[in-house]
Amino acid sequence: DLLKQIERLEEIFMVKTDKLKEITDHFVGELTKGLTVEGGDIPMNPTWCMGFPTGYEKGTYLALDMGGTNLRVCEVSLPEEKGEFQIIQSKYRMPEDLKTGTGEELWGYIADCIHQFVEYHHEDEQDLETLPLGFTFSYPATQEYIDHGVLQRWTKGFDIKGVEGTDVVPPFEAALQERGLPIKLAALINDTTGTLIASAYTDEKTKIGCIFGTGCNAAYMENCGSIPKLAHMKLDPDTPMAINCEWGAFDNQHKVLPRTQYDILIDKDSPRPGQQTFEKMVAGLYLGEIFRLVLVDLHQTQECLIFEGQDIGKLQKPYSLDSSFLSAIEEDPFENLSETEDLFQKHLSITATKPELELCRRLAELIGTRAARLSACGVAAICKKKGWTECHVGADGTVFNKYPHFKARGAQALREIFEWKKGMKDPIVINPAEDGSGVGAALIAALTLKRIQEGN
Ligand code: BG6
Ligand code: GLC
Repeated sequence: DLLKQIERLEEIFMVKTDKLKEITDHFVGELTKGLTVEGGDIPMNPTWCMGFPTGYEKGTYLALDMGGTNLRVCEVSLPEEKGEFQIIQSKYRMPEDLKTGTGEELWGYIADCIHQFVEYHHEDEQDLETLPLGFTFSYPATQEYIDHGVLQRWTKGFDIKGVEGTDVVPPFEAALQERGLPIKLAALINDTTGTLIASAYTDEKTKIGCIFGTGCNAAYMENCGSIPKLAHMKLDPDTPMAINCEWGAFDNQHKVLPRTQYDILIDKDSPRPGQQTFEKMVAGLYLGEIFRLVLVDLHQTQECLIFEGQDIGKLQKPYSLDSSFLSAIEEDPFENLSETEDLFQKHLSITATKPELELCRRLAELIGTRAARLSACGVAAICKKKGWTECHVGADGTVFNKYPHFKARGAQALREIFEWKKGMKDPIVINPAEDGSGVGAALIAALTLKRIQEGN
């Protein structure tokens, strides 16, 4: 009967070509709506990053990268040479309990990390004042200027009280001040915008920056004249403005995405039900959890279809499996799935039979493939909306960089959506990005300071 279950899972998790096209078309409409005053599901946040780098930016900058999993502090030097950079960095794991703690704890922790970095790398604290900081804060923020940002809502499982709806910059700067750090924030940016700019710095064909990681999102340039919700500001219509789509919120109305009972459950039990519908189906934070929920369901049905008679206590713990668990299963090179067998034994204290292991492998493939194919719809939608038939997309994030076959599956989905002729070189290609939150943040800080100097 496990075969029957596999068929059922294939039925609910596979996304056929027609569905990809339907999702892409709906996505195009939502991108457009997000730029209007009325808005839609996708925020389409103007970022005040107004233009691409020339490749000749220079100077030394601090970059702070608060993703969802790691915190990084970098010092980035942009030399005279075109497209070059040097970077020194320290990485810190964000403690789990910080994600549900208080704002004060969060800003304090971040400022402490910067303090540590500076003490280690900067004996002379004097010149700190001259080092502009680019802060990559990878959550949806409303910005009226580039050096401010009101958090719209936490995503990626964060749930820190009292921060949503407030400007995150003042408490962050206060925490720096308390530690005697005379650092000046030049720009608050999103990781997707950083990825877009850093990739464009080294590859001029780049038009989109994407993150496929703990969360999933993209940024691209729109001309100010094509952003109706900014019309009242009377900006030069031909000046470009990077838009942070926040496409994780795509289809919060549940119009097109093929949600399964497991996706519905993830949403219900998340700190922000009803939000980030698309992200919850494709991003790294959720892939392991979808897998876990299916297995628990198969164990708990009346017939107990898998792991009969075994203690599944460990498997019952929410978010106990991350996407690296699925990666490892998909990467198991052995016909008898012996590595997968060990994984279940070691992590979950479950002894799985051969048919159970096979079901797990297929399930991992289905979840990973669905994520890649649905993600491709977002890329396709931006290209379709902009009429771009050829371009490069810079991408970063653990899912893109580490999840097996993610790139190939995404590329395959793009071929299906656009019906490119067989044998033709893919005109739209998703490539690994340059370090967007280090180099990108530095570049955006440089571009911002230049714009201020020029009085724009
Ligand atoms: C990192 C970037 O490489 O990728 C971060 O520096 C970004 O800015 C991150 O947020 C996304 O990947 P993940 O998998 O850590 O969420
Ligand atoms: C989430 C955040 C978004 C970020 C993405 C990738 O979707 O809301 O701002 O870009 O994760 O890190």
